[in-house]
Amino acid sequence: MNGNKVSPEGRVAFVSGANRGIGRAITIELLEKGAKKVYAGVRNLKSMDDLKPEYGNRLVPVFLDLRDDRSIIKATRITKDVEILINNAGVYEAGGFCSDDTLDSMAVNFEVNVWGLVKLTVSLIDRLKQRENAAIVNVSSVLGLASMPVAGVYSASKAAVHSITQSLRGELFLTNILVMGVYPGPIDTEMTKDLEMEKDSPVNVARNVVQGLIDGKEYVFPDMMSKQVGDLYMTEPLVVEKQFANFVSLEEEV
Ligand SMILES: NC(=O)c1ccc[n+]([C@@H]2O[C@H](COP(=O)([O-])OP(=O)(O)OC[C@H]3O[C@@H](n4cnc5c(N)ncnc54)[C@H](OP(=O)(O)O)[C@@H]3O)[C@@H](O)[C@H]2O)c1
Repeated sequence: MNGNKVSPEGRVAFVSGANRGIGRAITIELLEKGAKKVYAGVRNLKSMDDLKPEYGNRLVPVFLDLRDDRSIIKATRITKDVEILINNAGVYEAGGFCSDDTLDSMAVNFEVNVWGLVKLTVSLIDRLKQRENAAIVNVSSVLGLASMPVAGVYSASKAAVHSITQSLRGELFLTNILVMGVYPGPIDTEMTKDLEMEKDSPVNVARNVVQGLIDGKEYVFPDMMSKQVGDLYMTEPLVVEKQFANFVSLEEEV
């Protein structure tokens, strides 16, 4: 087992999509748990200004647009000393595979959620290997474990993130790098603002992700719904698939 425990205390982290939602909560939690420095990957460098008085030079905003290769290259030059990479940035473009818009929504979801994550990760792997202890944290989704038809293309992008996470874990098994997959359920952020259902808080997700680093966890189900899905998925993945498909059918009947 790899089993590396990667406490943020005294370490340098890089969080993509740090300006809002889950990424912002993880950034704050890392700083609160003693991170030496957190690079906040953002598309608007001023978006972290409100946190500067509290965290000063420990918080370093870095321009990062995962659709722009040059910005990824520049960001990875700045973040050379990273030890904990949190691949959090993501987009949600609704749609399934029986629509006129399938290819468009596929391109949007995959460009950021999959290609962006892979480009950033492979650009930093050699750096991470040079650290004494390091981690790659990939934010997938419960929809990466079982698809919801109304969000079929997004689900496919998050399933790719899950598979990439498994592959990295295998390839990096004998190294110093902990590879963690995070599988949130519905969380109260901008991404789910139109979704009317019970949601957990980004703060809760952040606490569980950072605790997962401290404990050396490879799978993190960071909220109430995902804990239930995670337990069921481990024993009966087909039941989860049917439940998710049925959830959407019921919604459509209303
Ligand atoms: N909320 C949920 O229910 C839920 C559930 C499961 C998984 N997740 C996953 O959790 C992660 C965070 O989601 P969230 O709920 O916090 O969503 P959010 O509030 O919409 O935040 C998304 C973040 O990703 C950034 N981002 C989007 N496109 C980008 C790009 N091209 N380059 C760089 N950054 C980009 C956004 O930056 P801008 O502000 O510049 O757009 C923002 O910081 C995502 O990967 C999402 O798929 C969320």
